Amino acid sequence: MDLKTLFTAHLRERLAYAEKALAAHALDTLVISSGAAYTHFADDQDAPFRPTPHFRHYCPLMGPHHVLVLRPGQKPLLVRYAPEDFWYEQLSLESIWGGVPFWLEGFELIEAPSLEAVWEAVGKPGNAAYLGNETDRAEAAGLAVNPIHLTAFLDWGRAYKSAYELQCLEEATVLGAKGHLAGRQAFLAGASELEIHHAFAQAVGCLDHELAFASIVALNEKGATLHYENKRSHKNGETMILDCGARVLDYASDITRTVTAPTCNARFVALVKGMEKLQLELCAGVKPGLPFSQLHHQTHVKVAALLEASGIVKASVDESLAKGFTFPFLPHGLGHHLGIQVHDVGGKLAGPDGTFQAPPPGQEYRSLRTTRTLEPRQVLTIEPGLYFIPMLLRPFREGEHAGRFDWKLIDELSPLGGIRIEDNLLVTEGAPRNLTREHLPN
Ligand code: GLY
Ligand code: MN
Ligand code: MN
Repeated sequence: MDLKTLFTAHLRERLAYAEKALAAHALDTLVISSGAAYTHFADDQDAPFRPTPHFRHYCPLMGPHHVLVLRPGQKPLLVRYAPEDFWYEQLSLESIWGGVPFWLEGFELIEAPSLEAVWEAVGKPGNAAYLGNETDRAEAAGLAVNPIHLTAFLDWGRAYKSAYELQCLEEATVLGAKGHLAGRQAFLAGASELEIHHAFAQAVGCLDHELAFASIVALNEKGATLHYENKRSHKNGETMILDCGARVLDYASDITRTVTAPTCNARFVALVKGMEKLQLELCAGVKPGLPFSQLHHQTHVKVAALLEASGIVKASVDESLAKGFTFPFLPHGLGHHLGIQVHDVGGKLAGPDGTFQAPPPGQEYRSLRTTRTLEPRQVLTIEPGLYFIPMLLRPFREGEHAGRFDWKLIDELSPLGGIRIEDNLLVTEGAPRNLTREHLPN
């Protein structure tokens, strides 16, 4: 199906949900702006612009200061900020989209040449809520600014992806897979972190800030820094964690692969193989009705078994879990919702009413980003890892259980950093769809 048809259905679904959200909160109108860019402190430079995600959920129009006005039963009003300007390029809709945008028919369009004109077109709708960061303008228009419960209701709904969103996510995956193949090839040819990053961005065909997030290209020991964003220039790594994704119409892919050079330590290579098997098993376990925290716990069970089988930890799975031996090797959560935001919203909600779904007690759940029960149409990452992180291992090295670890082996493997393997999965009524493996099989 073409994107226009998919978007028409997506918008219809979105508007029906917004109508429910407004009714549940006794509101008549929802106003969402694409937002203002952040200007660095004491500077006249802006951070790269990211739209209010809720605006993007309804409308693919890029750029700041546009405003959507949604009223039940009416075609949504889109006020497009379109100033005449000689400092920054301002293009017509047709020139940006190479013709009439596929989404345009869904909206009543007003082109506004100034911010004043934008908000004049919005007017002062009564009993209305506003989402976005242009809060002074919204308050002046008498709008209720970013109400928490309405936001939670909308966040909850964002977990269920439409066919249009899936198409965007899949296209982002196709680009991400292309970038990964280029990055892997560069690594195996001895390239530096900086060169690998450039190979990835070039294959995707975008600027750095247009990637899904700051790329993680970690050679050797840097793999043990979970969000390592520096780019060193020395070459010929033994291991690489490449955690990078692309964006299509602001929908993100988030893919990680761990690659080893032919000269890499054989015990580390075996660990990567074990992690690959374990990751695929976890992917196969994605099914409706399963609380994500249970799959996260399964991850710790499997990592405990891998640590025991590799001789790194000298304890049974049960003892490892009881004494927290897996935590220093895997301090992050199994995954997160994926969509317009890489760590997509609503993961800690128990329902659209905004109640909180607390994780089970225990440190293994501390960084888990979603506690929701899996349901069809959710898209999540499955990203188990195993790292050698000195600051987390130190208390065990110095503690009462030190004898349960092979420190000689840990010291041998620590310069190789760690392992993470990450795919993006769609929950369905039946077997899950692994969007990543469809385009990047390994
Ligand atoms: N790339 C960040 C993450 O995997 O969550
Ligand atoms: Mn991720
Ligand atoms: Mn990632």
